[in-house]
Amino acid sequence: MSSETKRPPLAHASGTPVTDNLNIQTAGPRGPALLQDVWLIEKLAHFAREVIPERRMHAKGSGAHGTFTVTHDITRYTKAKIFSKIGKQTPMFARFSTVAGERGAADAERDIRGFALKFYTEEGNWDVVGNNTPVFFFRDPLRFPDLNHAIKRDPRTGMRSADNNWDFWTLLPEALHQVTIVMSERGIPKSFRHMHGFGSHAYSFLNAANERIWVKFHFRSQQGIQNLTDAEAEALVGKDRESHQRDLYGSIEAGDFPRWTLFIQVMTDAQAKAFPFNPFDLTKVWPKGDFPLIEVGFFELHRNPENVFAEVEQAAFSPANIVPGIGYSPDKMLQARLFSYGDAQRYRLGVNHHHIPVNAPKCPFHSYHRDGAMRTDGNLGGTPTYFPNSRGEWIDQPQLNEPPLETEGAAAHWDHRVDDDHWQQPGDLFRKMTPAQQQMLFDNTARQVGGAAKHIQERHIANCAKADPAYGAGVAKALGIDFRPQMIAAG
Ligand code: HEM
Repeated sequence: MSSETKRPPLAHASGTPVTDNLNIQTAGPRGPALLQDVWLIEKLAHFAREVIPERRMHAKGSGAHGTFTVTHDITRYTKAKIFSKIGKQTPMFARFSTVAGERGAADAERDIRGFALKFYTEEGNWDVVGNNTPVFFFRDPLRFPDLNHAIKRDPRTGMRSADNNWDFWTLLPEALHQVTIVMSERGIPKSFRHMHGFGSHAYSFLNAANERIWVKFHFRSQQGIQNLTDAEAEALVGKDRESHQRDLYGSIEAGDFPRWTLFIQVMTDAQAKAFPFNPFDLTKVWPKGDFPLIEVGFFELHRNPENVFAEVEQAAFSPANIVPGIGYSPDKMLQARLFSYGDAQRYRLGVNHHHIPVNAPKCPFHSYHRDGAMRTDGNLGGTPTYFPNSRGEWIDQPQLNEPPLETEGAAAHWDHRVDDDHWQQPGDLFRKMTPAQQQMLFDNTARQVGGAAKHIQERHIANCAKADPAYGAGVAKALGIDFRPQMIAAG
């Protein structure tokens, strides 16, 4: 008992000592429970409320704290203070995730991986909420809820459905680029440490002269890329559903701190206008040959969370969180995300989720918002929260305004499918693969789409063939379907 007596004794949430945590109060040794045993009631009531809504997607994830270090000067592109000088360090937090699986899902599934970073800069939090792939399934945010309905559980069976999944994907020709990556050898990373991360969207940088340039973020794993085959993943999941979490947690505990190098690609407005396709199209990459990677720095993860719920489950990342020197872009997917994350977090964590320590800026911040559920700081004390006021409160900072962005065209529901190319880049990716990698793509695809109806399989073959006839023929062969060139037209 000697060491235990040093621990604070058990108390109710009100602070009152708990006198018995082993035996409830009953009327006599064999009698019924008494309602006045409020410790029993408090304990059961709290327990019933321990679960909060999981993230609608990316529910299963792992987090860790780290530091970002600048190694190269990019101040000609951005005035963001996080990049202000070589050697500068900024604390950060990362959360990696799978997408389709629920909070209890196995890690080693074929799926894209979330790659969310929060940099606690001196000018506020900058979040990069990316994936381990540089592109996405579509370009219009209206499709996002549908994607989740298609890849998650069927409303009748409660099971995942290859039919729903592939019906949806194959009806979106623009999805083929992302689908090709997910079905490729990179579709199941060995661990979170062994994958790259991408901001995916174009963002903008503003420099000290307030000049804008478009930018994409790439985080390349210093551990190198390592993947699992379907067979390896199947064997692993049978033994360990937490293989990604175990790897990340274990390596940090062992002092083997993972690192990622940050590179950027930049594109001037003139280059954007001359670009053969929409540079803000999330289903396409900016070719590295034309827009080379520029090294910026690296981040290292070196501290595991003390408490997973407090720091990982309650973490709230949002692409809306930017700092002076970093801006958005016209990418319509990004525009929708600017709304959706804060909205989800106000539901999932509450309107004051910015005050949760893992989310709170580490610089002074003086925000106008007050009241709301679970406001646990001093709620701004007696500071009046109206503007204009005569007290010098709540002064905005117009000197940090971005330069105007020219837009053009009439407002309408523009159909981007009319003149956009869907096939060039997935075809290029396919042609870059070695024959062994192509074969793996065919076999992985066949194992997945093989569970869907025949007409859906044929539609996928047709889409692949439009990217490259050999791609379509390879998938057809792996599925045991006769490949006929007229499939392409039918698709
Ligand atoms: C999580 C919406 C596209 C990466 C989420 C969440 C929402 C959401 C509501 C849950 C947020 C929370 O509860 O904290 C959307 C919408 C999209 C979209 C509406 C398209 C219109 C994307 C894209 C990427 C991405 C393109 C990557 C480039 C992530 C990541 C998370 C996430 C990494 C998990 C963040 C974490 O670890 O907490 N998304 N998303 N999402 N999304 Fe998206």
